[in-house]
Amino acid sequence: MTMLRLPTMVDVHVHMRVPGGEHKEDFDSGTAAALAGGVTQLLAMPNTSPPIVDAAIFDVAATQAAAQARCDYGIYLGATDENAPLNPALQRRAAGLKIYVNDTFGTLRVESLATMQNHFRAWRGPGPIVVHAEGLFVPACIALAAQYDQHVHFAHISRGSEIVAIRSAKERGLPVSCEVAPHHLWLDERDLPRLGPYGDMRPRLATEGDRKVLWEAVRSGVVDCIATDHAPHLREEKESNSPPPGVPGLETTLPLLLNAVQATRLTIEQVVALTATNPRRLFHLTEPAESYLEVEIGALWTLPERGWQTRPDWSPFAGERVAARLRRTVLRGQIAYEDGVVHAAPGSGRDVREY
Ligand code: DOR
Ligand code: ZN
Repeated sequence: MTMLRLPTMVDVHVHMRVPGGEHKEDFDSGTAAALAGGVTQLLAMPNTSPPIVDAAIFDVAATQAAAQARCDYGIYLGATDENAPLNPALQRRAAGLKIYVNDTFGTLRVESLATMQNHFRAWRGPGPIVVHAEGLFVPACIALAAQYDQHVHFAHISRGSEIVAIRSAKERGLPVSCEVAPHHLWLDERDLPRLGPYGDMRPRLATEGDRKVLWEAVRSGVVDCIATDHAPHLREEKESNSPPPGVPGLETTLPLLLNAVQATRLTIEQVVALTATNPRRLFHLTEPAESYLEVEIGALWTLPERGWQTRPDWSPFAGERVAARLRRTVLRGQIAYEDGVVHAAPGSGRDVREY
């Protein structure tokens, strides 16, 4: 058994459900899950109810986050047909601008090229434009990145064909980056009969062939970040007649990645780049001072069905055998999580755009 010290992780794609979906997750439970998974900075998505699309709703989410968060957080603004140009001061407070081009949970959607152009023309950052774009919309967004010289970050890329498009854009020097979610690396459509509604998410699970291309792209550096797309929905919602898409992921990503290191599929340096260095660089985030993780390598354990910090308390990876475990998360010199217990208090987390 060896203990390893690692930089704390950043998760640039998390659904905190604030406002309007707190029964699924809020900043209290969601940031507890983050710390239990080694994440000290998370960026929260705007597909809430109502969606985070103006200063008033941003303030509602930011006020709840400031009161409840146990780790550091940023909050995205969502693009609509009506809200470009977004106020420059609001842009500076945001984690980034999220544009939903393809269908997913919630009502936020952009369907017209004119709206895309308005947002691409007006966005100044510091965060990037993050797009949920699948299939043919990937090259469309690459073209917009080139035309407006905007950094476009592709959320949860899941198909081999999309990797081909992004690799080629990067080779041409275009300002694009991308993330892959753990469920698209560890699961594929063959897992659907076993998982049923618990295996439903957007983008959907892909083929074994797609999964192989994703792994190769992770190893070769075409994929910049691993981001969970932590999308908490309760068990009873998943088992209803209209199950919402999405799976939790904050607490299972680090053990899965370290297991991949044990199996020599990834190096520890790659894991650090994918979970800490690259996302901090791409999203202009500063690493919190005096912060690190202590992980134990070598002890076998099974990811459990229950007992997670995330409110829905289930995982699509339950039953997976892993050979690594997070023992301690230290944030600004304090033990924020240790051996199953979250110590950081609600309200101790900071807004990543305010330091
Ligand atoms: O499966 C998903 N669920 N994909 C997303 O991009 C959004 C998410 C959610 O909010 O539940
Ligand atoms: Zn998402």
